[in-house]
Amino acid sequence: MARRHLSGIQPSGLLHLGNYFGAIRAHVDNQDDGYYFIANYHALTTVQDAARLRELTFDVAATYLACGLDPARAVLYRQSDVPEVCELMWMLMTVTGAGLLEKGVSFKDKKARGLQASAGLLTYPVLQAADILAVDADVVPVGADQVQHIEFARDMAQSFNHMYGEVFRVPTFSLGTPVLVPGVDGQKMSKSYDNHIPIFMAGKELRKRVMGIVTDPTPLEDPKDPDTCTAFALFKLVAPPDEVAEMAAAYRRGGYGYGHAKQALYEKLEAHFAPMRERRAWLEAHPDEVEQALFEGAAKARAVARATTDRARKACGLC
Ligand code: TRP
Repeated sequence: MARRHLSGIQPSGLLHLGNYFGAIRAHVDNQDDGYYFIANYHALTTVQDAARLRELTFDVAATYLACGLDPARAVLYRQSDVPEVCELMWMLMTVTGAGLLEKGVSFKDKKARGLQASAGLLTYPVLQAADILAVDADVVPVGADQVQHIEFARDMAQSFNHMYGEVFRVPTFSLGTPVLVPGVDGQKMSKSYDNHIPIFMAGKELRKRVMGIVTDPTPLEDPKDPDTCTAFALFKLVAPPDEVAEMAAAYRRGGYGYGHAKQALYEKLEAHFAPMRERRAWLEAHPDEVEQALFEGAAKARAVARATTDRARKACGLC
């Protein structure tokens, strides 16, 4: 049987190329028996504006659907439509050391960045564990920053199982091959550095963003090193290998300016995302379709989550 994989996406900012090449693309490529949910309960720790949270939640759903997630193959749902995760979270809290949560890297990191340390921020990994355990996930594909959270989830599952019997499937994580997606300033693409390119940006706006990519002052006629250039790094993500090789050769030969490379990149981005942009626009005009997909996804996820939660309730004497 296929191993069930699960991933949560926080609706905390418009999705950009870093999200697409770093996660969404792999989720879509590997979508069969995948559980993908919009972590809106988690987002409440940072997004405290109702209209904004709704808008960002819709954006994640519409983005996944536009990028090729098929609700007939994968389960796409909104976390808050599966209230069992909160029920499970409480049970998991009782087998989690308070000291463990204080050692959470992302908690420490957010605190260091001056975010208000609510109890929600502290217990965030317990909710994440509930997400994973609720639907009996086998594998959680993650970036390096989330490994600790999956280890916490494993600890919680094992502690609970140890105390009450085999209730939870103990999940593992898979790291995948990290994809380097630089932002327009050359640093890792991130909404918080404001160096991002939104997935569905197009036309003049996109061209302006691409032309703003920071490059060094090497004159047009001089040879250049493609491997240190942000425009080239992004081009590699969207162009076929022969065109990538051709551009690299042009850099090394000289007489090829960064402006040329950026123009080529702009055209590729525009074309690469055109079909997805079209689907995204269609969904924007038909929000009921998005709602329907989420509704069906929640029904499937809930059926599994209810069974797991009932198993846990029985095991620990709640019923
Ligand atoms: N914490 C994850 C992030 O910020 C989002 C998330 C919530 C998640 N629940 C999850 C990821 C469960 C994987 C599994 O990216």
